[in-house]
Amino acid sequence: MTFPQQNLTILGSTGSIGVSTLNVVARHPQQYQVFALTANQRVAELAQQCQQFRPRYAVLGTESAAQQLRSLVSSDVEVLWGEEGLALVAAHKMANTVMAAIVGAAGLIPTLAAVKAGKKVLLANKESLVMAGQLFMDVVHESKAILLPIDSEHNAIFQCLPVDYSGREQAGVRRLLLSASGGPFRTTPLSDLTAMTPNQACAHPNWSMGRKISVDSATMMNKGLELIEASWLFTVDAKDIDIVIHPQSIIHSLVEYIDGSVLAQLGNPDMRTPIAHALAWPQRIDSGVSSLDLIAIANLNFEAPDEQRFPALSLARTAAVTRGDAPAALNAANEVAVEAFLNGAIGFTHIADIVDRVMQSWPLGEPRELGAVQEADRRARAMATQAISQQA
Ligand SMILES: NC(=O)c1ccc[n+]([C@@H]2O[C@H](COP(=O)([O-])OP(=O)(O)OC[C@H]3O[C@@H](n4cnc5c(N)ncnc54)[C@H](OP(=O)(O)O)[C@@H]3O)[C@@H](O)[C@H]2O)c1
Repeated sequence: MTFPQQNLTILGSTGSIGVSTLNVVARHPQQYQVFALTANQRVAELAQQCQQFRPRYAVLGTESAAQQLRSLVSSDVEVLWGEEGLALVAAHKMANTVMAAIVGAAGLIPTLAAVKAGKKVLLANKESLVMAGQLFMDVVHESKAILLPIDSEHNAIFQCLPVDYSGREQAGVRRLLLSASGGPFRTTPLSDLTAMTPNQACAHPNWSMGRKISVDSATMMNKGLELIEASWLFTVDAKDIDIVIHPQSIIHSLVEYIDGSVLAQLGNPDMRTPIAHALAWPQRIDSGVSSLDLIAIANLNFEAPDEQRFPALSLARTAAVTRGDAPAALNAANEVAVEAFLNGAIGFTHIADIVDRVMQSWPLGEPRELGAVQEADRRARAMATQAISQQA
């Protein structure tokens, strides 16, 4: 099978998704050329990646970090920094594929730059779509960018939908089912949850991920953000998306059709599968993931999500239904609360409390431009920070 060579920019190459992407790319040196790699502050990790993959550009968060990197890499690598550097490599005419794997709201502007430039965009940074929803999808349609989901659940749904999918009703889809592992605290006694530490919250039973998404999985805010992401990606109302707890993380999500058929995508819980799928789409490449051993797994279990245990789920569902700038506020408040939890400033159950307090007094707006989304993000961060100082 022959593939046209892809020139790849990886935004967030030092993170969990970035490293998995490079692992897949290294298996196919003829098909994928690394054009640019970016990180925020982990200079040594980025230097090592530059030595191995020899990109044309490397980008860091600050000028001083960029200065350090210059002393560690060959002069063939042009080292840039800050938002301008990110925008340049995301939209560069020589990059045809962009992996958007920066964590959090910081991914919004560079991901949008790649979309505006009409790239093939592999979307791991769900926060950008959660924040900018309609605006983001409008740019996708105008620029004719190809948007391929990397979240394993959305990638699974994408694989279970028809190739020419143009909407739920036309395709005969009754509902989407997002599967969720339930995270590390699925069975922890409710009375013990307040005392859970960052390290316990980040010890996911099935997936190895960055710390922010790991905490989001423990609160199940991650599933809430995914619900919002799915409603934009697949043009499906939040009421037609159900969440099912599936502790083994083997079925990555499902699509139910009006004739009663339910299609599911299965695989070992390893992000290299959705990454390889999106990199090669519409073809297939080896990802390095081992074969699924159903006999060894033996049982697949399912439960309803417990909204008392996971209040973040109903907060996110409300934001998904409300739309406007509610999802941007939810995301920003959550980012601030998760950071405060990781820094030891608040307890685990306070994360959802803080988000709830922000959303209770959120003056809903209808963002018609990117500046309004960024303003909502700033205001919600300020409100969450104030709520945390009152909590402490
Ligand atoms: N990990 C998973 O399995 C998984 C699965 C599905 C979806 N996702 C999504 O993929 C995204 C990345 O997740 P992850 O787990 O890979 O995160 P991660 O391990 O924390 O990595 C984040 C990456 O973004 C960079 N970064 C952080 N803050 C930045 C900033 N302000 N400006 C520019 N770059 C910045 C980091 O650089 P430094 O290394 O220098 O800090 C790193 O390269 C998230 O949106 C997450 O929801 C992840």
